[in-house]
This record gives sequence, C-alpha cells and structure tokens, in this order.
Amino acid sequence: MNIFQKIFLKTKKETDLNESKIQCKAPYSSMYLNVDGKIGVCCYNKIDLLGEYPQTSLKEAWFGKKRKVFVKRMQRNKMSEICEICLDQSESNAFISSIPSTFKNNDINSEYPAEISFECSNNCNLECIMCNNGLSSSIKVQKVENSPHGLKIYDDNLIAELRNFIPHIKSARFIGGEPFLIPLYYKIWDEIIKLNPDCYILITTNGTVLNERIKQLLIRGNFNICVSIESINAINYEKIRVNGNMQKTMENIRYYLDFSKDNRRNFGISTCYIQQNYEDIPELINFCNVNNVYIWFNRVAHPSKCALWNCNKTLLEKVLTFYKTVNFRSDTEVEKSNLKSFNELIELTKIWYNLSIEREIKLPGLELLTTKKLYEILINNIHSYFRNRNGQDELQMVIDKMGRVINSQPNESIRRSQLIYFLNTPVQVIHIYAKCNYLSLLY
Ligand SMILES: C[S@@+](CC[C@H](N)C(=O)[O-])C[C@H]1O[C@@H](n2cnc3c(N)ncnc32)[C@H](O)[C@@H]1O
Repeated sequence: MNIFQKIFLKTKKETDLNESKIQCKAPYSSMYLNVDGKIGVCCYNKIDLLGEYPQTSLKEAWFGKKRKVFVKRMQRNKMSEICEICLDQSESNAFISSIPSTFKNNDINSEYPAEISFECSNNCNLECIMCNNGLSSSIKVQKVENSPHGLKIYDDNLIAELRNFIPHIKSARFIGGEPFLIPLYYKIWDEIIKLNPDCYILITTNGTVLNERIKQLLIRGNFNICVSIESINAINYEKIRVNGNMQKTMENIRYYLDFSKDNRRNFGISTCYIQQNYEDIPELINFCNVNNVYIWFNRVAHPSKCALWNCNKTLLEKVLTFYKTVNFRSDTEVEKSNLKSFNELIELTKIWYNLSIEREIKLPGLELLTTKKLYEILINNIHSYFRNRNGQDELQMVIDKMGRVINSQPNESIRRSQLIYFLNTPVQVIHIYAKCNYLSLLY
C-alpha cells in the first residue's frame, strides 16, 4: 500500500473497468478544461496535458498527437506516475478511484469525447475556508501562483469551437468558481440545449445563486444539480462557506429538491469532510436521508487547516469516538448508500489515526528543534526518497519549489510551522504537488 492509498483509502470498490481491459477511459472519452487554460482528460492529471488554451485549439487537443500518445501509453501500461497513482488506488479501492469510475460507462470508440468538463473560471461569491484563489475569485490570499484569469482565457471563440463537439457529447459537467456566476457557461448551456438537448448536464453549485433566469434555464435542458454544503447548522455553515447564508441556501435546496422530483432529474449533496464539520456530518446525513438525497464526501487533501488526514491522534480519536455513538436508518437505497459513505469516512479516519501514531513515533519533539535543523531533516528526507528513483532533476525541482514556498511566508513562526507540516507530509505527496505546481496549496 503506498502512502496515497493510506491517506485516501476508500473501502468501496467503485471502479470496474476490467470488462474492457482498459484501465481508465478518460483519455479515450473525456476532455477537461481547466481554469488556467490547461486542457487535460480529467481533473486529476495536470501533468499529461493535451494542450493549453487558446494556443491549442480544442480540435488540436482532442485529435492531436498528444492524446494519441497518451492513449498508446495507457494501452501499453506505460503511464505517467500521476495516472499510476490514481489507478493504483482504484485497484485498491482508494480515494481517487472515484475518478476512473466516473468514466466507466463512456463509449471509448467514439471519435469525439463522450463528455467535457468545464472549470473555466474561478468567478465565485464565496470564500470557503477549504478553497483557494485558484477556484474562487473572492479569496484574496494568493495561494495559486499566477492566479487564473478565467474568462480572459476562454471567450466566445471557445463557443465557436465547442459547436463541433457538442452534438457528439453525452454529458457535460460544470464546476468553477460558481457555475451560475460564470457568464460563459450560460452561452455554453444555450448551445447544448440547441445542438444536443438530451445531453446530461451536471452542475456542481454552492447553492447560493438561484433566480428566475436559472429556473427557466433548468427546464429547457437536461440539468442535474449537486449542491455543496458542509453543514446544515447555520453558524457552522456560514463559518465554512464564508459569505453564504444558510437560510437562503436551504430555500434553494428545497427548490432543487422539488424541481428534481417533478422533472425526474438527479439531485445530490456534495460535502467536504474537514476538521470544521466532522461533528455536523451525522445531522447532514439525516437531512439527506429524510429528503431521499444521495450524499458524496469530498476527500480534502489541503489546506492543512481543514484537512483531517494530517491531524494529531487526539483529534482523530475524538472523531472516531463520536462516530461510534451515531446510528442511521438503512431501509431505502439512498439510506443504504449514505450509510456506506459514512462508514467509508470512519475507515478513512481509522487509517489517518494509525498514521498519526506512526508520525508521532517517527518524528517526536519537532517543536523543540531549530528552524535550521528542521530544514536539514526535511532536505535529508527528500534526498532519501529520491535515492532509489533516478531523478536528479526532479529532486532539485522539489527542493527549489519547496524553498520558494517556505521563503514566501511572511514570518519565522509561519515558516517553522510550514516546515513541521512538510516534515509530517509524506515526500511522495510533496513530490506530486510540486510537479503539479500546487505545493503552496498544501499548507
Ligand atoms: C471548487 S467547488 C466549485 C463549484 C461550486 N462553487 C461549489 O461550491 O460546489 C467544486 C467542489 O469542490 C469542493 N471543494 C472545495 N474545496 C475543496 C478541497 N480543498 N478539497 C476537495 N474538494 C473541495 C466543493 O465542496 C465542491 O463540491
């Protein structure tokens, strides 16, 4: 079991791609437009890109050499480390396994992508504590370097290009930013309704924006909604989803519930499992059960102030003790599924608990060491990680990027706690984040 599996282990076997002997259908069937112009095949692999918009057109990205090479490498089992980690986990039922599974019903022989995912802008009204400036324009703290320009990258030319693709796709996913605050998405939805009215449209929204225009839109196309909330306790909800208003969001959820029931659409709740909401999860599950709604939990790897995997054993023990006292109904399909999701959270938390014990044995008394000593230990750890992996360039890249992130901190005390955090983070995790240029997001 590698460290990613340990951190993000999921108990449910979700991926069943064996029948086709294809390990992941994403490169065959999916195109993903990232907020900073990166064109990839899924939300996870930000290394093997098909191109960068607008320098690369959608046609070049999809029909060009890079995707062909990607597919060939996958057929020959010679994937990049990032795909290997993801697939490795899908075989062992781990966290990211949900990524290959989302593509499992896609047609792999179709000339055009079966689905396109849009994360084209970070335009958002909320400043959720677990989010970052890359995904929300309201967050002013600069975590993602070269913060995305969103709609400055994607404009009406994208719509023109999409006209060639839309008639062929089966589904389109819209993330963001907040999808209902992204003007470009309205133009894309109009095109989908016009050119491919049956296309399954899935919108992940924070549930705060709902008006007459949106209500009319939802009737016109095959829209399905997933609302992201972490709590139904107003105080906690508003502490986590900063700028959100529980009462308003709840009114909107009620609207979506009725709309979905009346129009036979899917409706779900998506929830980040974080330090700030573990106590609210049982109440949230009960709310979903009463309303016959499926709940999905997002595994939160960062930031450290929210993630649970990096917490100490006292806190994780507290979470587990609390969850032992909770019971749920499991009569309906939805209740069964929600219970299963909850049990997965418990399994995950048990693994994090065991890891926290291992960490405390391996690295005791870090707080007492000088900053210089902490840095030395960290560099040593990175060197020993790379010792068995021929990668001098990679080693230097990780050390350079990590140094930049630590030095960018405003004072000595933050630099120290960041060093301690990096020391508690497996080097493999640091390596992958550095490769994706997301190292500053971790802390
Ligand atoms: C970035 S949001 C954008 C869409 C929309 N604004 C929303 O809140 O649903 C997409 C999804 O990512 C989740 N999310 C936010 N921060 C996250 C984090 N640090 N780790 C994992 N998922 C996260 C949200 O809960 C949401 O379900």
